[in-house]
Amino acid sequence: MTDTAFAWDTYARQKPERRLVNAAGETTWFNWTQYPDHGPGTELLGIKPGAAVLDLGCGKGGNLAHVAALCARAVGVDVSLAQLEAAEARWSDAGLVLHRTDAVRFLEQTGEHFDAIYSVYGAIWFTDPEQLLPVIRKRLKPGGVLAFSQRPAVDGCYGCQASYLNRSEDEDPLVVKRWDYEPERWEEILREHGFESPAASVLPAPPGPRKIGTLMVRARAV
Ligand SMILES: C[S@@+](CC[C@H](N)C(=O)[O-])C[C@H]1O[C@@H](n2cnc3c(N)ncnc32)[C@H](O)[C@@H]1O
Repeated sequence: MTDTAFAWDTYARQKPERRLVNAAGETTWFNWTQYPDHGPGTELLGIKPGAAVLDLGCGKGGNLAHVAALCARAVGVDVSLAQLEAAEARWSDAGLVLHRTDAVRFLEQTGEHFDAIYSVYGAIWFTDPEQLLPVIRKRLKPGGVLAFSQRPAVDGCYGCQASYLNRSEDEDPLVVKRWDYEPERWEEILREHGFESPAASVLPAPPGPRKIGTLMVRARAV
């Protein structure tokens, strides 16, 4: 097992399951942000029934199950066996197509083309965009949507950063790499990689004590 897979397996065991229903009483829903019942939904993906949709770093599969409920082909990739086992257990009837592998490797090896590729605090945040964006572009159909969300960059901390995944009191945290940029820089990076109409902005946190918003990024393949 790689250090990355071990780190994310450890994270998976600490992360609680998604609720059974959301505030609207729905059993599947899409959540781009770190706050429940907040932010946009699948309209950002612009998908129709029958669309092929890929989640990079799908985790326990909550968002992907909602994509499947919209009658799309819902494909998820994740390096963590623990995350995928939780997805299979919770969403066994949803028809998810799950692959345990690294996002770049999957995109290099698959023959499939997608109408939309997305990542919610997922593999896009934790992979060098210089490696990932070229292979995403190859696997998106013309006009296909790339969309992702993650925590906004801390002022002055750009490029590759260390992310600490906490363990018990007695153990050192595990470290994974993530890539942070300001919204304007994300738009430039996407243009540099041949995407069109890039749009990146920070969605504010919902009213309350928490102030950190969500970086939302969207672009189209030419
Ligand atoms: C913070 S979790 C988010 C999971 C899920 N998208 C969600 O919203 O709950 C990050 C996920 O990305 C996965 N991941 C990280 N790097 C990856 C990579 N290079 N390839 C595939 N999956 C990766 C992790 O295993 C983990 O499940």
